[in-house]
Amino acid sequence: MKIKQTSRQIEKFTGDMVAYFVHQQDNKKPACTNKYIQKQIDLAYRAGDFSGKEGETLLFYPSDGKQLATSRALVVGLGKAEEAKQVNGPGSSDAWRDNYRQAGGRVSQAAMKAKAKKVLVVIPDSFILDRLEVTECLAEGLGLGSYEFKKYMKADEDDNQHQIDEILLYADQQTQAVKKGVKFGAIASRAALTARDMANEPGNVWTPSRFAEYGRELAKKYGFSCTVLSKSGMARLKMGGILGVNSGSAQPPKMVILEYKTSTRNPTLMLVGKGLTFDSGGISLKPPKGMEEMKFDMCGGAAVLGAMQAIGEEKPKGLNVVAIVPTTENLPGPSALKPGDIITIYGGKTVEVINTDAEGRLILADALAYGIKKFKPQAVIDLATLTGAVVIGLGHHRTGLLGNDNALVKKVLTAGDRSGEPLWQLPLGPEYSKQIKSKVADIKNVGNRAAGTITAAAFLQEFVGDVPWAHLDIAGTAYGFTEKPYIPNKGPSGIGVRTLLELVRNWK
Ligand code: BES
Ligand code: MN
Ligand code: ZN
Repeated sequence: MKIKQTSRQIEKFTGDMVAYFVHQQDNKKPACTNKYIQKQIDLAYRAGDFSGKEGETLLFYPSDGKQLATSRALVVGLGKAEEAKQVNGPGSSDAWRDNYRQAGGRVSQAAMKAKAKKVLVVIPDSFILDRLEVTECLAEGLGLGSYEFKKYMKADEDDNQHQIDEILLYADQQTQAVKKGVKFGAIASRAALTARDMANEPGNVWTPSRFAEYGRELAKKYGFSCTVLSKSGMARLKMGGILGVNSGSAQPPKMVILEYKTSTRNPTLMLVGKGLTFDSGGISLKPPKGMEEMKFDMCGGAAVLGAMQAIGEEKPKGLNVVAIVPTTENLPGPSALKPGDIITIYGGKTVEVINTDAEGRLILADALAYGIKKFKPQAVIDLATLTGAVVIGLGHHRTGLLGNDNALVKKVLTAGDRSGEPLWQLPLGPEYSKQIKSKVADIKNVGNRAAGTITAAAFLQEFVGDVPWAHLDIAGTAYGFTEKPYIPNKGPSGIGVRTLLELVRNWK
């Protein structure tokens, strides 16, 4: 789907749907700049069907081709101008950003339901956000809301019609703000959809080798350098974490490394994403119920590659970005890692494996230690579906955030709020690190049941030294995230991509 801007007359638009947004007013009908549509709003308001409340929609079929040539018109309520819910409380600009995303998502959903192919969306005036932000968030919501994954379903002719071909964002003037907003929103949503696509692919298709191939494709398309460490390369580097986790699998492991380089004078941001293409738990086998969802255990890696796609399109200045995705399956094959085994991570630290299902931290440890040694980043951010415990603690509404540097943690929190991907910080500290002390090795890979998300992060902390580092535990948000018009209610959300992009856009 393409998202573009236009200033051509709305009345003459002959596509499948025109969408307007209106605010709710105190005991008054909502006002629309289009006279013909206003008449319909008046009728619906009088009937008690539409008042412009947030999320309300009004769909009708214009009968006068001269006043409005489109076959469908949709009006979406934005709520009261001075109010907005969620995120940082009523009236905050973050809440309004999400309100526009959701409004955009509603238009896409209505358009898909109506099988509309060409849609014109009229950018509303805002009282809180500037034109760029309104356009950006609308475009983002429109893009994100139009997502489907039907690749593996018999293509019934009717079904194929669902795809929206083109969305035109209307502004009466072609300003830079609108142009930039459309561009930002389109890039961000496309990148998140790429991450969703990767996650939706089944484990037998989206293997570590496929991950690596995709990394190479991205590199070629956007001019990144790409290195893929194979099993033998990992063995040479003594990456006992990823090799250990991989040892029960028939699929070879890969470590995908992409480099977006601007100048050696610029700082380097390192992004690391957990790429478990399937996590059975290994010898510490998971129960069967819901195990199919463990194909989503690569969502951290998907988010990192999604962000790299956006970076490739946008080419931000002033920083270098290195993306590392360690990827493998975790299966209980005959030579699989066993509880009690001791492995050596890149750099020499030894780990007693208590539970083979705590595998993510083992592969991330190699990636973090190696990446920091090789690229000397100014900051490191990792994303991982790391612990079930974060779902117990925060549910599906916030990503768990932990880190060793307050300034970086704050930056990530802000970026998440602005992106509609809220996070919540959990603590680290020596008392938690003590829980992963081993009697036979430097550390062990699990603590006790207490504070599972924190001890997992404490494990990672062992491998970042004093480099500013933030860890995002996305186990609760990578799929089954808070349902919104632009977030699918079950499948992968693409979480993390837009937060990373927001960070990169404002990096200093
Ligand atoms: N991939 C899982 C974490 C997970 C759980 C992701 C639920 C998404 C939804 C991870 O590898 C894992 O199995 N973690 C264990 C750690 C435990 C053995 C210390 C867990 O959380 O149960
Ligand atoms: Mn696991
Ligand atoms: Zn896992």
